[in-house]
Formats: sequence, structure tokens, C-alpha cells
Amino acid sequence: MTETKPAVLVTRRMPSAVLDQLAASCLVDLHPGTDDLAHEEVCARLRGKQGLVCMFNDRIDAAAIAAGDSLRVIATVAVGFDNIDVGAAAARGIVVTNTPDILTGATAELTWALILSVTRRIGEADRAVRRGGWTGWTFDFMLGSELQGKQLGIVGAGRIGRAVAAVAPAFGMQVVFAAKPGADRDSASDETVVSLDELLLTSDVVSLHLPLTETTRHVINRRTLARMKRSACLINTSRGPVVDEAALSWALEERLIAGAGLDVFEEEPRVHPGLLQRENVCLTPHIGSATRETRAAMAALAVRNVVEVLGGRPAVTPVHR
Ligand code: DGY
Repeated sequence: MTETKPAVLVTRRMPSAVLDQLAASCLVDLHPGTDDLAHEEVCARLRGKQGLVCMFNDRIDAAAIAAGDSLRVIATVAVGFDNIDVGAAAARGIVVTNTPDILTGATAELTWALILSVTRRIGEADRAVRRGGWTGWTFDFMLGSELQGKQLGIVGAGRIGRAVAAVAPAFGMQVVFAAKPGADRDSASDETVVSLDELLLTSDVVSLHLPLTETTRHVINRRTLARMKRSACLINTSRGPVVDEAALSWALEERLIAGAGLDVFEEEPRVHPGLLQRENVCLTPHIGSATRETRAAMAALAVRNVVEVLGGRPAVTPVHR
């Protein structure tokens, strides 16, 4: 008797070695492009599929989950899973998995790249050299600010936030973490935990490492930006909607803060026009985890999750709501 392999939709091109791994036990329906699949097409192609390998920007809402009438596992190639209706999946007994840990180092590295780019004006300096705006060395050309002796405020003390914090002593920075709203301020460890308000008032660099939830949406807004030091900069490598971009554009215009480094945006790939114009903003196109090593490891883990679940075994990295 021939056994039918389970069918899996893969919404983006991935390393061929990883796809081969999946094809060994599953029938693969691959969207071979680098472009996004339209939501209606995702829904149509999910019919009859047991597995889905998707990206953070595929909207896997209740409608997509309903369309996936045979779905048993949704594996996102990302740590964040705000694009997936985890409740709707749980109600149908569908396992949802993500790719934590393996992208922590790459994302922490990019965070530091943005911190240094903003404080030492790397993007602005590069643009000046290219357009012939550097006519010779002068004493006070492109002066930036130093990290030594300054305070790094980490909002979101998960894996990535902590990995960023771990580097701070090498630059001579002190670290404070924001307490979760309503949480006890006393920490058992020797970490300094302060209220978000205090962190914003006292930090020279504020770095966001929050998942996107209804509570964290626009946590950085006109009111919170106005709490920051005028000399401080804001870094976001988490999710765009954590920051109200219009408010950030206003705060930069009013010189309420000194600069920003952003890898994520409210409506990607659109960037608020007010941010595009500013020299003191460093913009990168959601590349936190974009190293060859990390992306290959993320794809491999997502596929492993699918193979395990469809093989009747527990997922390696199921998400916890
Ligand atoms: C993630 O993993 O959540 C990133 O944003 C996409 O790589």
C-alpha cells in the first residue's frame, strides 16, 4: 500500500538543502519567489495542506486558518508571531512554532550597528563623502557623541534585549531594564530594573526589544518621547508598530530627541516620509536576522518543526501564548 505524504505550503524561497529535508517526508508546494504571496492565494493554496511554513509578513489570520481545512502545523520562520492568529490555531488544535534563540546574536549585532551609526553619524558621514561634501579634515566636522559612561535603557528584557545588554560593558555603558507594567521593581539578580518612565528620563540610548501585542503597540508615542533626554537616541529592532512613527517624526523635528535607528516600520516597506528626510535617522530594511548563517538556521528549524509535528512527534519550538 502506498502511503500519501502530507502536503506543506512554503510561502518563500528557502535554501535548497532545507527544502530537500522537507521533501524527504512531505509534498512541498513552494512559492519560489521572493515577493509576498497575496492573502487570497495563501488561503487558496492552504486548502488540503497539513503544514505551512510562512514568514513574519504573511498574514495568517482566522480566515487563512479556516481555509487550511487539514492544517496541523504552522511554522513561522521568525521569532515574532504577531502575524498569526494563535488563538484560532489553538481552537483547531493546530501547533504553531517559531524560531527563537538562533537569531538572537544577529539581531543584537544589528542593534549595536544602529546604536553606533546614530551616535557616530555613520550614515550621514557616508552620504557626505559620496556627494563630495567632505572638503578636508576640520576639527569639528561630524562630531558625534560617545557611549563611554552613558546609560543604555533596554525595553523588553527577553533574549535579544539581554544579548544587547551583555555588550554594553565593553563600551563602558551602564544598563537599566524597564520593568513590565505592574511588575515588582525588585529584581532577584543584580540587574537594575526601573519603571519605563524612569528609563526614558535617564537613558542616553533607548533600545526596544518588545513583541508586538495590544499592550506594546505605540508604547513609544508623543507622551513617552517627550520624557526622553534631548541628547538621547531611540533604537527599534523589534516590531514597527511599537513606535508611533508620526510621533517619532514630530519628536525629531522638535529636537526632543537627538536621533533614531530603525530596522522595523509600522507599514513595511513604507517608511514615514518625515523619517526619510532626516539626517539623524538611520534606516535599515528589517534585516535584524539577515545573516546567511542565521537565515539558514531559521529555515532549518522551521522545517524541523513541521517534520516533527507531521511525524506525530512534539514540536521543537512551539510558541507559548
Ligand atoms: C523575526 O524573527 O521576528 C524577524 O523580525 C524576522 O526575521
